[in-house]
Parts: sequence; structure tokens; C-alpha cells
Amino acid sequence: ARITLRQLLDHAAERGYGVPAFNINNMEQGLAIMEAASACDAPVIMQASRGARAYTGDIMLARMIDALEEMYPQIPLCLHLDHGNEEATCASAIRYGFTSVMMDGSLRADAKTAADYDYNVDITRRVVEMAHWVGASVEGELGVLGSLEHGGGEQEDGHGAEGKLSRDQLLTDPDQAVDFVRATRVDALAIAMGTSHGAYKFTRQPDGEILAMRVIEEIHARLPNTHLVMHGSSSVPQPLQDVFNAFGGEMPQTWGVPVEEIVRGIRHGVRKVNIDTDCRLAMAGAFRKVAVQSKSEFDPRKFLKPAMDALRELCRDRFEQFGTAGNA
Ligand code: G3H
Ligand code: 13P
Ligand code: NA
Ligand code: ZN
Repeated sequence: ARITLRQLLDHAAERGYGVPAFNINNMEQGLAIMEAASACDAPVIMQASRGARAYTGDIMLARMIDALEEMYPQIPLCLHLDHGNEEATCASAIRYGFTSVMMDGSLRADAKTAADYDYNVDITRRVVEMAHWVGASVEGELGVLGSLEHGGGEQEDGHGAEGKLSRDQLLTDPDQAVDFVRATRVDALAIAMGTSHGAYKFTRQPDGEILAMRVIEEIHARLPNTHLVMHGSSSVPQPLQDVFNAFGGEMPQTWGVPVEEIVRGIRHGVRKVNIDTDCRLAMAGAFRKVAVQSKSEFDPRKFLKPAMDALRELCRDRFEQFGTAGNA
């Protein structure tokens, strides 16, 4: 059954678990996520980016989610817009059945000036008002995702920023977080603590210098009733890198966000954990393996089935690690 982000995260906060938010672009990802959720009795957040909506088409995406809901009626399902960039994008998502939207007013805030902050507050507040009229939830974001190692915001496109920002400009400021939540009335708040989107987050196993989990603890202490969201939270597991590279891939050694750090975040108010890269890597490794091991194979299903299997296993791991399992 379709539920809002607010309903799901309130339940998660009550029971102290976190919910992975997996990005979805196609049927195979949807089936794999729901198979995993069903196997371990977990509620689901599926999120579609603007890119996903353009790839799939809103009508196809909406019907696909309807079908998944009908196939798994016992699983609570939140359909969330990932990184909405303007009011119209959020409104059209709700029209197509999204029960939650992210208004990412930090997309423009790469210099973190007062004007950027006011813009973020204003547009997020307007989206919250609109979404709440029709019973949808809103996630806002404060801070700039980007690598503390490289000293730069990535402008949330995964390509690195031109201008370098200081650590303080990248990390979410707890005082500002309090003001932002009060001013916007968001249902969930995404914060920046040193993660970035994509596979290349850290060039070494992250420590407290480059993955500033203390920011989460500080914000949770100030905002104990606010549901916190971690973006850029793929773990980029070594076994997935190894499969990818064993079958002709060329991915330089990289480190993601360790699962145990996410679990620590969940103990401090993190309720939604965004994961896309790990899903992509699980599927892409499986494609590579079939391509290398079965050189005469040309039935797409023979590529897609192992890819679904790999994604399902990843999702199941995260449902279990985050305590989502058993809470459907
Ligand atoms: O935040 C970015 C997500 O990984 C979605 O990526 O915009 O390529 O669909 P995308
Ligand atoms: P990853 O690239 O770490 O999977 O992050 C995804 C994300 O934050 C989507 O909003
Ligand atoms: Na999001
Ligand atoms: Zn994100």
C-alpha cells in the first residue's frame, strides 16, 4: 500500500530503524527491490530522480509503481522524488502518484551565501505548503554534498565543483538546521557530512576527518524529532568492485560510506539512507560477468536476471543491516 514518507519515517523513529531509499529507473530494479522487501518483510522507499523520470516517462513510471504495489499489497511503499529542483517538478511528481518529494534548494547554494540560504528556505517552504495541501511529504536539504578530502562541493552532479569550499561551508551547520526546519516545516532533512554522490567518495577508508558523522549527532541533539536523511550513502562494497573489475571493468580502487557508520547514524536520528551507486554497481557487475562468461549470449533476459538477483541481495543486506526488516 502507498504511504507517505512522513508516515513511514514516523514509524521508523518510533521503532529506531532506518530505511534505505533505492533509486529506480526500470522494471527490473522495481521487481528486485520488492522481492527483497517481501523476503524480509520491510517497508520500501523507491525514489526517482528527474533523470529517471525522463528515462522512463512519468506514465510508465507511475503504472510500474502501481503494478509493484498490486503485486506486493502487504508492503508499505513510499514513492519519492529525488532531488527535485523546482516547484513545478515537485507538483508534477505528486500528480503522478509520488507521496513524497525532495525540494533540493541546496542545488543552488553552492557558495552558501545568505542569499542562497534565503532562496532555499523560501522555495522549500512553498513546496511544503503545496505538498501538505494534498497530503504528500517533503524532504529538504541543507549543506553541500561534496568531498571533504578534495575540499570542494560537487554541485550534486558528481563531477566536482570549480570553486573550492571550506569544510565549514560544506558541512551542515546545526544552528542553521534548527532555523531551517522551523521555517520550512519539512518532514525530513537531508544534511551534508562529507559524503558525495557516485562511486568516488573517498580515496581511503574514511575516518572522522573526511566522514563527519559527528555532524549528525550534533544536529540530532538539537532536533531530536526531525527525521534526518543521508545522501551519497552507497558503501561501494569491495566485493562489488572486485566483480566489476574481474570481468573487464576498469574502476579505480575507491571507498564509500561503511555500513557500520550508517548504522551509527541510524542510532542518531537518520531515518532515510539514499543508495543508488551500489545498486548500479551490483547490476553492472552482473552484466559484465555474463558478457565475459557467455560470449554468444544475446538474450537480454540472460543479462537482466542475474543483475536482478545481485540487486535483490544488496537490498536485502541493507534492509537487514538498517533494521528495516520485520517492520512492514
Ligand atoms: O542523486 C543522484 C542519484 O544517484 C540519481 O542519479 O540523476 O543519474 O538518475 P541520476
Ligand atoms: P550514492 O551515489 O552514494 O548511491 O547516493 C545516491 C543519492 O544520494 C541519491 O540521492
Ligand atoms: Na531524495
Ligand atoms: Zn542525493
